[in-house]
Amino acid sequence: MSTLTESPAWQALVSHKQAIHPLDLRAEFRSDPGRVERFSIEAAGIFLDYSKNLITNETLKGLLALATQQQLEVWRQRMFEGEVINTTEQRAVLHTALRNRSDQPVYYAGQDVMPDIRAVLARMKSFCHAVHSHEWRGYTGQPIDTIVSIGIGGSYLGPKMAHSALKPFTVPGIGTYFVSNVDADDLQDVLQNCNPETTLFVIASKTFTTQETMLNADAAKAWFLASSCDQKHLAKHFVAVSANREGAVAYGIDNACVFEFWDWVGGRYSLWSAIGLPLALSIGMSHFEQLLEGAYAMDQHFMNTPLADNMPVILALLGVWYHNFCGASSHVVLPYNQHLQFLPEYLQQQDMESNGKSIDRDGHTVDYTTGPVIWGSLGSNAQHAYYQLIHQGTQLIPSDLILAIPSESEHSEQQVALAANFIAQSEALMRGKNIDEVRREMEPDIDEALVPHKVFAGNRPSNTLLLDTLNPKTLGALIALYEHKVFVQGVIWNINSFDQWGVELGKQLGKTILKTLTDTSNSHHSHDSSTKALILRLMNKK
Ligand code: F6P
Repeated sequence: MSTLTESPAWQALVSHKQAIHPLDLRAEFRSDPGRVERFSIEAAGIFLDYSKNLITNETLKGLLALATQQQLEVWRQRMFEGEVINTTEQRAVLHTALRNRSDQPVYYAGQDVMPDIRAVLARMKSFCHAVHSHEWRGYTGQPIDTIVSIGIGGSYLGPKMAHSALKPFTVPGIGTYFVSNVDADDLQDVLQNCNPETTLFVIASKTFTTQETMLNADAAKAWFLASSCDQKHLAKHFVAVSANREGAVAYGIDNACVFEFWDWVGGRYSLWSAIGLPLALSIGMSHFEQLLEGAYAMDQHFMNTPLADNMPVILALLGVWYHNFCGASSHVVLPYNQHLQFLPEYLQQQDMESNGKSIDRDGHTVDYTTGPVIWGSLGSNAQHAYYQLIHQGTQLIPSDLILAIPSESEHSEQQVALAANFIAQSEALMRGKNIDEVRREMEPDIDEALVPHKVFAGNRPSNTLLLDTLNPKTLGALIALYEHKVFVQGVIWNINSFDQWGVELGKQLGKTILKTLTDTSNSHHSHDSSTKALILRLMNKK
């Protein structure tokens, strides 16, 4: 057994689980009318009700003891203070500095990083202003009306998700598209809506070497040059966002059009950096700054609130409870607002690329599970698809149900129905429907064969997250909430949440196979028979 699973706090939770099993949530609510007051937190425009979880006061105490044992407060301090906690890449983890809205310095390797951060934000601001005021024009003198952002992973998912979430804040007259897939259809579909004279491409890549992004950038450049016919016009239509300025300039981007960020910003934590430029162009810089403010408010809450009242800490510990002590292997995220449709996809990278690790910080293979499978989609639609499995399936699937309180609008009947569904599902998951209730509902013609099919066991745990409204500030807080949740879980599991070595092998083998597919003199014999057969099949179909 590892130090973690042998530790007193871990062992206490193992015993506690046995002692409280099976916990009847309905009974817990009946016997304790104050449960929701005790098990809820409000911070940065978000209300978290976690009372519908399979926990007691003792469970929380045990989980908090585990967090203390794993030195969560020390690690939190180390992250915010710019220590090199991403040890396998020898990097600090300072995405929180990007949204530091105070006048306090943040030091990395003895240097305050804030002046550079503020300088890039100022450049983003003046660039957005130039585009929006039509001071920045395309090569034929026309104003820019279309932004095409080309990037993948962390250089794509955050801006795309936030762009959708903040649709009502879009600057009039600007259309924004996001392209990521190396499948040419992705870019081609977008280009059909674009006019080369009025389109601005943002090439977003931390490394500026990512195959998918570079090939899409090449194709975009070729499309643009086919109309503009002159390399010199590129400067008005291609900007780059990267931690590799030299790479971007060598690629042909005008030095003045490179918006920089730094290696201490992890890809999946980079929305707050210049990677947010397409978003800022789409919603305006003042809204982008409000996004930073919201994240900062959550950072302050995370940093300064006792662990027991700390929203990211509680969310993380509940996840650990289900994953390590109750056998849940996945976690479902169910936003109810249409504009949050890409949140689950975004959280998949944030969580699974961070915590999908089986080697701990000391280089040992872990003997406990880490990183649950994160999945989900719009709650309203999912109710008519896979909620069946969540309600009556054999697996324990903890869920986060998220709703931004709808504004009064002409669609208010629909919005009330949305809210009703959101609340009803969290109640249904918790209370279920027992056999007596099913029978009573069927009276007087009780069909005994049907009765078991209509029973809902209940006791299905869920967190309900209510946002005051969906605006840049609350969205910033929501994203930061999940970032810190992931960080806390990484600390509990003693893993480095900030590297991603697991994506490298596929990239490496992909390069070899690309050579084989494009150059027939290259041998395919070193591959296994399945890989070889696939290569041959594709080569013959070329
Ligand atoms: O392949 C995974 C990854 O490295 C992610 O971590 C990153 O967000 C993405 O690729 C894109 O990388 P880049 O911004 O360097 O193009």
